[in-house]
Amino acid sequence: DDLPPHVLVLFGATGDLAKRKLFPAFYRLAASGLFPREFAVIGSGRHSPGTDEEFRAQVREVLADALGDEADADALDDLVGRVSFQTASADDGADLAAAVREAEERLGDGARRLLYLSVPPGAMDGMIRMLGREGLTDRARLVVEKPFGLDLASARDLDATLDEVIGEDQVFRIDHFLGKEAVQNILALRFANGLFEPAWDRHSVAQVQIDVPEELGLEGRGSFYESTGALRDMVSTHLSQLLGFVALEDPGAFDAGALRDAKAAVFRDLRPLDPSRAVLGQFEGYRDDEDVADDSDVETFVALEMHVDNERWRGVPFWLRTGKAMAQTRRTVTLRFREPDSHVFHGYPCPNELVLELTDDPRVQVDVRAKHPGPAMSLTHGALRLDLGEVDHTGHEGEDEAHHARPLEAYERLLLDVVRGDQTLFTRADEVERLWEVVQPLLDERPEVHPYPVGSWGPEAAADLPAGGWRLR
Ligand code: BG6
Repeated sequence: DDLPPHVLVLFGATGDLAKRKLFPAFYRLAASGLFPREFAVIGSGRHSPGTDEEFRAQVREVLADALGDEADADALDDLVGRVSFQTASADDGADLAAAVREAEERLGDGARRLLYLSVPPGAMDGMIRMLGREGLTDRARLVVEKPFGLDLASARDLDATLDEVIGEDQVFRIDHFLGKEAVQNILALRFANGLFEPAWDRHSVAQVQIDVPEELGLEGRGSFYESTGALRDMVSTHLSQLLGFVALEDPGAFDAGALRDAKAAVFRDLRPLDPSRAVLGQFEGYRDDEDVADDSDVETFVALEMHVDNERWRGVPFWLRTGKAMAQTRRTVTLRFREPDSHVFHGYPCPNELVLELTDDPRVQVDVRAKHPGPAMSLTHGALRLDLGEVDHTGHEGEDEAHHARPLEAYERLLLDVVRGDQTLFTRADEVERLWEVVQPLLDERPEVHPYPVGSWGPEAAADLPAGGWRLR
């Protein structure tokens, strides 16, 4: 209730992310009373979408599409009424700065700024400089979309620019996977239970798979994809962050310092990628997209091996895989366990696997072997399952927000954290730079890009990478 008034400035306000995720998140936060009571949204971009009235109509349509039946007419009117548009570019932010100040005067004392840069990596630096020049970084929190830079050198440049114009405590590098309930649950599972952590290391775990296939193709994002590719779009970001959560040491606390220190430590121990242990692919038909070059060799699929060279994980391969236009949409983390040190039963297939399904109906599953019912002492296998959507939420100790049983969508959660000034679930400069360092060998020495059919599990060459195969196949 006591959140100060906010002016939200959204760069890239007519883009795909704004439409699919950010405006719906503003709506949900406002409609459920989690947002500041007083706020204004200024959409921005290089090109005007028309008058404010026209922009509002577009936002209304976008919200109606994204929310369907969920949209409440009054709440929709309320949000749309707070929206306006102001063009701005790296060279010219004067009108925008004036619009922000005007909105602040309207909202009253103590208004804060939330600046959201949903712009391509190449446009980031100029925009940040403009914000500094116009004095917009005062009283501001700045959200920077991924990918953060395109390689180590450009990420370092961006960090240097940020350092010139704004404090690190005001910078929120967003990786929306960290906003997913099921991803945060990895920490709850590991550190709130006595059962799992003792088995969470190289003595028990044979390999880890972090597998994020997607059925969708380009969805109109051809030009973005041409400048990033799957490695930058997914691997150095979402998949590596998942690896961080799976592999980190006990952070000691769930706060911005502790959690990010623990993640950064894992990333420091990551072995730089070995291009001979990576397979790149491109789905057939990718080059037919109007925004894609006819001879493009941008990868839409990556499978690779990572190693965390520390006491806990030495010798355990982490297999990462992701791709567009694949057979299924999943976000599956699998810890495959070693065989038991016992001779009573042996030779039975289906090793123990702890499977974290981070999809829309998140669940945790443990594959176990058990006795086959009947007179013989023979084996079969089954699964223990926990549906996270059905976890009882009344039982825990009276936190303020315990009554908000509704799970928050990732962007919703993270935007709320920005408004609350909580950086725990945002990535830090040292983490991001280290991840670029790890990925850089693959950018420098690109393996061949194999074609793969739409709807498949990717190129043949990647099918047998992990010992025992992929869990998803
Ligand atoms: C985005 C990528 O960051 O994440 C997209 O740019 C990808 O290419 C998306 O499809 C996946 O996010 P989610 O939340 O749908 O799993």
